Amino acid sequence: MARVFITGSSDGLGRMAAQLLIGQGHTAVLHARNQRRGEEAMSAVPGAEAVVIGDLTSIAQTLDVAEQVNALEPFDAVIHNAGIGYREPRRIATEDGLPHVFAVNTLAPYILTARIQKPKRLVYLSSGLHRNGDASLNDLAWEHRPWQGQQAYSDTKLHDVLLAFAIARRWPQVFSNALEPGWVATKMGGPGAPDDLDAAHRTQVWLAVSDDPAAAVTGEYFYHKQLRKPNPASRDAGKQEELLEACKRISGVDLATD
Ligand SMILES: NC(=O)c1ccc[n+]([C@@H]2O[C@H](COP(=O)([O-])OP(=O)(O)OC[C@H]3O[C@@H](n4cnc5c(N)ncnc54)[C@H](OP(=O)(O)O)[C@@H]3O)[C@@H](O)[C@H]2O)c1
Repeated sequence: MARVFITGSSDGLGRMAAQLLIGQGHTAVLHARNQRRGEEAMSAVPGAEAVVIGDLTSIAQTLDVAEQVNALEPFDAVIHNAGIGYREPRRIATEDGLPHVFAVNTLAPYILTARIQKPKRLVYLSSGLHRNGDASLNDLAWEHRPWQGQQAYSDTKLHDVLLAFAIARRWPQVFSNALEPGWVATKMGGPGAPDDLDAAHRTQVWLAVSDDPAAAVTGEYFYHKQLRKPNPASRDAGKQEELLEACKRISGVDLATD
């Protein structure tokens, strides 16, 4: 049985993944943005071991999340699931001056990957929209471009795939993969989302814990437990390094080379 930490598990696919893991006999540690959401998460996921608190829009709080995680027993897997969507109407700046969506969807998984003691498996939630992501990696902080919420989201979801593949390349002893869950009716997906909600959280759980040889791989991209072709730019090692370098510059956090 595995111990799994899931970011953004107070709602949506993260919460469903935690419930499924516990139902399978695994240990799940939750994460929520604040104390109140943490309490709500713990009551919605009976059997969860603990909840870690921190708002991922803040670099300082994200670093603290990593410290809280490291104070617990080591984890077999970490699922980088927390995310915010494509409907942000304007560039909302965080306390660090970054766009909200970049801070939560790109920088937080980078910082947590760098600072949490290495697990055996890492899983990153991307989206089909990553195929529209801007592979130039120019203006990551949206200081020069006019704001476009859907483009900003798509960019960050490409970053998540670049991050997963960068880790797979740099840390060969860790399985690091990305996936798209489909467009489903969570808070983010909205009530009219057309895809199968009941299938949407299963791939992240499978990649985190399954002994199925198809899940025991690294540097791959999945949809519903099947390999799917990602944006070819995500395979570019130069782009992967460029993203890591930018995240390091912005956050001040270094990533181990192996
Ligand atoms: N739903 C879809 O159709 C879809 C499609 C493609 C990809 N995805 C990806 O799937 C992942 C999960 O999405 P979802 O649909 O489950 O979304 P969701 O229902 O909106 O849940 C997102 C989770 O992330 C947490 N979160 C957001 N901002 C946070 C912050 N600043 N600090 C801490 N926690 C934060 C939320 O906390 P609160 O509950 O407190 O808000 C919630 O627990 C995301 O990475 C998303 O990009 C979803």
